[in-house]
Amino acid sequence: MPALSALVAVLLAVGGVVDALPPRIGTPRVSSPSNNTGAGASADAGSKRSTPPGTASLTQIRNPSFIPNGPLALAKAYSKYGQPLPPDLQAFIDRIHQQAQQKRSTGSVVTTPQQYDVEYLTPVTIGTPGQNLEIDIDTGSSDFWVFSSETPKSQVNGQTCYNPKKSSTAKKLDGATWEIEYGDGSSSSGDVYLDKVKMGGLNFSSQAIEAATRVSDEFTEDTNNDGLMGLAFGLINQVRPQKQKTFFENLQPSLDKPLFTADLKSGAPGHFNFGYIDKNAYTGSITYTPVNSTQGFWMWTSPGYTIGASGKFKSSPIQGIADTGTTLLLLPSSVVTAYYKKVSGAGYDSSNSGYVFPCDATLPSFYVSVGDSARIKIPGQYMSYAPVDSQGQNCFGGMQSDDGIGFSIFGDVFLKAAFVVFDAGKERLGLAAKKLP
Ligand SMILES: *[C@@H]1O[C@H](CO)[C@@H](O)[C@H](O)[C@H]1NC(C)=O
Ligand SMILES: *[C@@H]1O[C@H](CO)[C@@H](O)[C@H](O)[C@H]1NC(C)=O
Ligand SMILES: *[C@@H]1O[C@H](CO)[C@@H](O)[C@H](O)[C@H]1NC(C)=O
Repeated sequence: MPALSALVAVLLAVGGVVDALPPRIGTPRVSSPSNNTGAGASADAGSKRSTPPGTASLTQIRNPSFIPNGPLALAKAYSKYGQPLPPDLQAFIDRIHQQAQQKRSTGSVVTTPQQYDVEYLTPVTIGTPGQNLEIDIDTGSSDFWVFSSETPKSQVNGQTCYNPKKSSTAKKLDGATWEIEYGDGSSSSGDVYLDKVKMGGLNFSSQAIEAATRVSDEFTEDTNNDGLMGLAFGLINQVRPQKQKTFFENLQPSLDKPLFTADLKSGAPGHFNFGYIDKNAYTGSITYTPVNSTQGFWMWTSPGYTIGASGKFKSSPIQGIADTGTTLLLLPSSVVTAYYKKVSGAGYDSSNSGYVFPCDATLPSFYVSVGDSARIKIPGQYMSYAPVDSQGQNCFGGMQSDDGIGFSIFGDVFLKAAFVVFDAGKERLGLAAKKLP
């Protein structure tokens, strides 16, 4: 299933490392098309590290000018998994679209992308000579698509476009097309080139690059995001007539270990590492749990959960996917209800299509169990996603219901709290605790 990890403004930048060469510190994004003072992120000087051959490390930085929107983050998840939006949520989205439309037609500068949720952008180089794009790495989808020279000018709004004509190594993949559609009406489609791709010092010479010949308004408005790189399983790649492998699948034979790790952080630079496990990135030990890739996702099952430090373990298997492209943590409604019962003033708010609570409420931590004896602690403050009103009185919860999606989604609210190993070699997910800010 395609990913919509993309609709929002956020981050970027980073440090790749080639073989035995000294570490490179990434270039920060220089300007934000939507706000010249805005989204420039600073390079992460702290990311210097040396990595062994056959490995790579990427650093990410969060866009400080990002304005979050809870209901949109939720809608994005529904849309991503092809589920119709619940009526409350649909009404909310319709209102947003109407507003955006009105503002666009009067020509005022609306930074609509910032109304959507967080995404993490990472620098990727395509072609020869290299063209640098800022890409959203999404473990919940399997297509690598980019804005391109074939995307109509009217649909491009500051994004960097891949131009195959300016790459001596680009080759058209004849007859191949792709199309991605979302329940909220956003979509993109195009044709396919094979070209060289470099990321964090790793490279593959004939990666399928899905060049957009059309993107919908939502993507156009997400000015910082030049495309999306899916790192789920090739099974759900959308290229026809023949599915294409993901960059990670192509890289696997040349990696030291057939795995990558995600170390996302709350409001701070995070890393994706390929081919190795950084022992300094986590505390304690890594607990591995089997992945069921039948549906093309990094799907695993947690045996249960605990609410609050002194709470009792509740045995209740939760099947869900590890998805860097979804911001929120979406769990079965029984779990969500149990959690918000412990938050004074919390309740389901139909005008916001989700659980909200007073922003000054005390939020219990939430523990997700992994395997027989390990668990990941999500600090209470991660459960407050964003205010729903301009006075900052009520806040939208970081945990919401997965009703109708068919499985749970362990999105960024959860992933930020853990060090996560995506081990394709053994089809398993490794989870470890780490120091949290
Ligand atoms: C850019 O962002 C800053 C700080 O968030 C704000 O004060 C300023 O008005 C914005 N400028 C534009 C052109 O939107
Ligand atoms: C591409 O990767 C190969 C194998 O990992 C490596 O030998 C080569 O130096 C890399 N080339 C560049 C330009 O990074
Ligand atoms: C994996 O998931 C599929 C469908 O999602 C299910 O039919 C199958 O039983 C699962 N396999 C295991 C070993 O749990």
